[in-house]
Amino acid sequence: MVRKDIQLRQTEEQSKAPHRLLRHPFFAWLGVRPVWGQHTLVEQRTLRKWACGKSRLVEIGVAEGGSAAVIRDAMSPTGTLWLIDPFHLSRFRSINATKRAAHRIVGNCRNGSVVWVEQFSFDAVLDWNQQIDFLLLDGDHTLGAVKRDWEDWHSLVVPGGVIVFHDAAVFPGGWTQPDWGPVELVDQLFREQTVVGWQIVEEVDSLVVVQRLSSVG
Ligand SMILES: C[S@@+](CC[C@H](N)C(=O)[O-])C[C@H]1O[C@@H](n2cnc3c(N)ncnc32)[C@H](O)[C@@H]1O
Repeated sequence: MVRKDIQLRQTEEQSKAPHRLLRHPFFAWLGVRPVWGQHTLVEQRTLRKWACGKSRLVEIGVAEGGSAAVIRDAMSPTGTLWLIDPFHLSRFRSINATKRAAHRIVGNCRNGSVVWVEQFSFDAVLDWNQQIDFLLLDGDHTLGAVKRDWEDWHSLVVPGGVIVFHDAAVFPGGWTQPDWGPVELVDQLFREQTVVGWQIVEEVDSLVVVQRLSSVG
C-alpha cells in the first residue's frame, strides 16, 4: 500500500518538482503537501515488515513523522511506540512546524499507543526502563552519535528483536556515502567484525536490519 500522505524519498531530479516551493514543514502541518518520508518505497515496505505485530517499538529521529506513521500502521494494536526527537532544529521553536506535522500524521492513525519523548536519545535512555523489540536508529548521523545510540540502546533489545539502521548502506543510485556515520558503524560492527549475538538479517537500499540472536548475547 502506497500512502499518499507520505512523500517517498526521490532522486535529485525528481525532487526539483513539484513540491519544492512548499518545502517548509509548515505546509506539511497544514496538510498542503505530504510529509517528507526520508525513505524509499522498498525501505518503507521493509520497515512495515519488521514492525508488523511488534509491541514495544522505539524510533530515534522522527522529523516530519513519515517513518513513524508507517511503523504505527504496522505495529500490534496493543503495542506502544515511543517517538524520540527533541525537535530542536526548528527556527521558530514556539511554532515548531516539524513537530506539529509529525503529530498530525502519526495521529491520523489510531493503531496502538504512542508516547512522544521530546528529548535527545542520550538523555531519554537515562531513565529508560522498557524492553524493546523494534528500534529504528535515524537520529544524529555523525559516527560518534550513532555509535553512542548503538552503545546506549542495543542491550535493551530483547532476543529476537531488531535494530534498523537508516542511511547505513551505500547502494546503486542512492544518496549515502561510505564516510556517513551509520555506514561506517554498520561496516565496523557487522562486516569488519561481528558483534557477538547479533547478525544482519536484511539490507534494502540504505536500510540495514540487525537482529539479536535468541541463543547468545
Ligand atoms: C533523518 S531525520 C529522521 C527522519 C525520519 N525517521 C523519517 O524517516 O522521516 C533526523 C531527526 O533526528 C533528530 N535527532 C537528531 N539528533 C537526535 C538525537 N540524539 N536523539 C533523537 N533525535 C535526534 C532530528 O531532530 C531530526 O528530526
